[in-house]
Amino acid sequence: MNKAKVLVTGGAGFIGGNFVQYMIKKYPNYDIYNLDKLTYAGDLSKHSEILEEHNYFFVNKDITDTESINNLFDNEKFDYVVHFAAESHVDRSILEPDVFIKTNILGTHVLLEASKKYNVKKFMHISTDEVYGELDFDPNTFFTETSPIMPNSPYSSSKASSDLLVRAYYETFGLPVNITRCSNNYGPYHFPEKLIPQTISKALKNERIPVYGKGENIRDWLHVSDHCTAIDLVLHKGEDGSVYNIGGHNEKTNLEVVQTILKVLGKSEELIEFVSDRLGHDKRYAIDPTKIESLGWKPVYDFDTGIIQTIQWYLENEEWWRQILNGEYQENFKQLYNLE
Ligand code: NAD
Ligand code: TYD
Repeated sequence: MNKAKVLVTGGAGFIGGNFVQYMIKKYPNYDIYNLDKLTYAGDLSKHSEILEEHNYFFVNKDITDTESINNLFDNEKFDYVVHFAAESHVDRSILEPDVFIKTNILGTHVLLEASKKYNVKKFMHISTDEVYGELDFDPNTFFTETSPIMPNSPYSSSKASSDLLVRAYYETFGLPVNITRCSNNYGPYHFPEKLIPQTISKALKNERIPVYGKGENIRDWLHVSDHCTAIDLVLHKGEDGSVYNIGGHNEKTNLEVVQTILKVLGKSEELIEFVSDRLGHDKRYAIDPTKIESLGWKPVYDFDTGIIQTIQWYLENEEWWRQILNGEYQENFKQLYNLE
């Protein structure tokens, strides 16, 4: 494997963090630069075991800081950029959209400009299926790469805006880009404000588990390690300018997800608390993965095996999620969802 310098933005977050660890192990000849602002969602403790690796570097920067980003690109001459850094939580985007616009749109633009100026060989933009909006409950409908872009939340519309900028840099300037649009991820180091890790941690503490509306909304769950292999494949084999949807046909209602976790943990369903619905709550997401499968990708986990592995991980890493829960972030949501 040839040498390469890879800039991973958002590598202290959930998916970027898993991807950094995956790349460090898989490509010892690659230098992996983890650039992260360390917002509330950024946590470096997850990388304690790779800190000493010869090919791991951490850079504490904000992707919206043009001058600092340009200086970094000028010094390091990256071959690849894999761009995860974003504000990622829909509920936060409802409460406080401004930072989503700044980070997700302007930050992506700063990186695109630097990648163009310093001739990056591939700009991988990690996006989401949420840019397609919502599907109804007909199980035969799926998002494909040509589905219309119809985002509904400030989060998904900021991601859609950044996707369009990435496309424009390919069409206008010929910057080699790929966009991946993945379904909901779960697995180790998932920040405990999201449905699955929140349910596990609350169940273990015997706390009420908020389920929005009637819990009928459907998400298509993909284990984060399967997302990492898909990104790796697109980075090396993706056709320039192409979009790839990533998902493994693991659709579940939110209620099914919560019930499964409670069952595995041997906890009572009485912990479930139905609360007011999320504003503009997308009904259903479901991916048609035919295109990424045609590159040779296949997920390892189905939901049943992946959720057991994930619950086991949260049981073994209680210290990690407990130190995060000691923060104040939960206060923000109590009013929105009429929580105690
Ligand atoms: P996350 O919230 O766990 O992590 C985001 C990371 O970005 C954090 O480490 C944070 O410190 C960093 N960051 C935020 N603003 C920054 C800035 N201005 N400059 C530098 N770093 C900054 O997010 P995640 O769940 O790991 O998602 C990563 C990417 O994948 C996002 O782009 C998201 O839209 C996309 N995605 C997520 C999912 C999912 O289910 N979580 C699914 C599909 C796509
Ligand atoms: P989330 O993990 O926030 O991901 P996303 O909004 O990006 O899909 O939410 C997953 C689903 O779970 C979504 O339909 C909203 C729902 N949900 C709850 O019912 N209760 C909760 O406390 C949270 C955080 C989410």
